[in-house]
Amino acid sequence: MTKTIGVVGAGTMGNGIAQVAARAGYSVVLRDMKNEFLERGMKAIDHSLQRDVDKERLGANEKSEIVSRIRTTTEWSDLAQADFVIEAITESIEAKSEVFRALDKTAKSGAILASNTSSISITKIAATTGRPEKVIGMHFMNPVPVMKLVEIVRGIQTSDETDKETRRLVEEFGKTPLDCNDSPGFVSNRVLMPMINEAIFALYENVATRESIDGIMKLGMNHPMGPLTLADFIGLDVCLAIMNVLHEELGDPKYRPCPLLRRYVDAGWLGRKTGRGFYEYNDK
Ligand code: CAA
Repeated sequence: MTKTIGVVGAGTMGNGIAQVAARAGYSVVLRDMKNEFLERGMKAIDHSLQRDVDKERLGANEKSEIVSRIRTTTEWSDLAQADFVIEAITESIEAKSEVFRALDKTAKSGAILASNTSSISITKIAATTGRPEKVIGMHFMNPVPVMKLVEIVRGIQTSDETDKETRRLVEEFGKTPLDCNDSPGFVSNRVLMPMINEAIFALYENVATRESIDGIMKLGMNHPMGPLTLADFIGLDVCLAIMNVLHEELGDPKYRPCPLLRRYVDAGWLGRKTGRGFYEYNDK
């Protein structure tokens, strides 16, 4: 039974996952490469929980207790205490393979190793370890504290016990697990990313302004955010990485990333996090 949860990566997804796990009562070990990344992650957690304190949905004491359940570290060895580890690093098979090899060495032999990958094959990630039956996809949505869905992706070797424990945890986190086969982009990004990419093509081909494209999808389809705003929110580098996986793995030209998306990523215009994407953000 899981008591301590390890989270690898203190970025947007990792700190959100650490927060929901600690809020559900688990001890959390949050690992990143540098202390400054951990500090930034803990600041984001504090900020996110403070929203609920301000709205009187969480007591200040409860907030302190949640935060105190999260221990930060730059050492792999601290993850040896974890019963269940969730990786949430950059969307690259090379980087993820390195993390899973390190986790396989340091984590308890019975520990489950989950990946928050948004498009990469779980079977491929699992094959870098000596415990493929204990590797599973656990794909959270951004912002993690708000979004109810977690896509559960079984690799070809994932065991029933691993699946069962993962679903149990997701429910304890107050979220809904939904199953999906190990196919590029799973369901969420197989459907979402081509829509975002098409919105970028619409901008590229001057079909409408950025405001019109977003307004049409927001008001016309009742989406909470327009696709270009959502791309900025997700990160244009992440969107491009996912489109590349869909394009390469499925081989259909309909998944080719829009040249404008590539150009923005080349320019370092990655969306909200860099202060510029399809829109400009002054708060960064
Ligand atoms: N932490 C905690 N709470 C947060 C939060 C955060 N980071 N961000 C927003 N919230 C809460 C707010 O406190 C507010 O709560 P209440 O309504 O209960 O008071 C609620 O969320 C709504 O927030 P706001 O009023 O500030 O703003 P909004 O109404 O515009 O909603 C949003 C913000 C929830 C992000 C909404 O715009 C939305 O749902 N957007 C779409 C998000 C989406 O599609 N996510 C999936 C992206 S794809 C992905 O993640 C997968 C991938 O692999 C790329």
